Amino acid sequence: MKNKIIIANWKMAPNSFKEARVFFRAAANYAKKTQKGAEIIVAPPFVYLEPLSKILNSEFYILNSFKLGAQDCFWEQQGAYTGEISPLMLKNLGCEYVIVGHSERRKYYNETDEIIAKKLKAVLDIGLTPILCVGENLSERKKGRHFNVVKKQLEKNLKYLTMNYGLEKAALIVAYEPIWAIGTGIFCNPKDAVEMHRFIKNILNLKFKIKNFKLLYGGSVDSKNIDGFLRQPEIDGVLVGGASIKEGGKDFIKILKIADKLL
Ligand code: 13P
Repeated sequence: MKNKIIIANWKMAPNSFKEARVFFRAAANYAKKTQKGAEIIVAPPFVYLEPLSKILNSEFYILNSFKLGAQDCFWEQQGAYTGEISPLMLKNLGCEYVIVGHSERRKYYNETDEIIAKKLKAVLDIGLTPILCVGENLSERKKGRHFNVVKKQLEKNLKYLTMNYGLEKAALIVAYEPIWAIGTGIFCNPKDAVEMHRFIKNILNLKFKIKNFKLLYGGSVDSKNIDGFLRQPEIDGVLVGGASIKEGGKDFIKILKIADKLL
């Protein structure tokens, strides 16, 4: 992971595969044309993963900086779990990354830190790279408790990785996504994000002895503010939600162009 990383989290959009195909091809064609630039990861809804993986393999097989990610997974590799998708299934589809512990899943599905810890371990066990999301809500930020909240999340979410896990080798992405910045248009000041990234880096280094990791920022990132984040050496990339599919995917191409210029 040499360059900056740009992740598109499409969330529950678009409504049809026809549209998904258009967004996906536009971004992959751009990456193919430039052949340098950021590492791009697209995380579509589960139902689009397989057909998009086929498009990636047949039309864009020469691209090694364009990857597929999933937005979630289950914590077991197989078994009778109605409605669930295992990390093993994702791996077999050609997916390389999995978002774990997104705040929307913590909020709407009551995903606890314990569930997230199990999912994170299952993703690493099968050889995929987890994108762990952490971040405080507005009241925690206002009370100045944000560092403490993120520290607790990391300690609880990474707890299965402490004993003999061999994390020197495993790759991990942590995305700092303050909840108050998600989908609100109010983004975190890049200086504050850098401060949090330094804090997270220390915890990963000192407490968990993890060396191979990247730290991203997420929360209302778009083509107008991305520059301020990518210019920070402490910020390895961004996790983009709404702007990754805005204007029929055009804003995402603008984001990629800006990232290229900064490299
Ligand atoms: P927005 O970019 O829409 O604020 O979403 C951020 C996010 O949740 C990415 O995972």
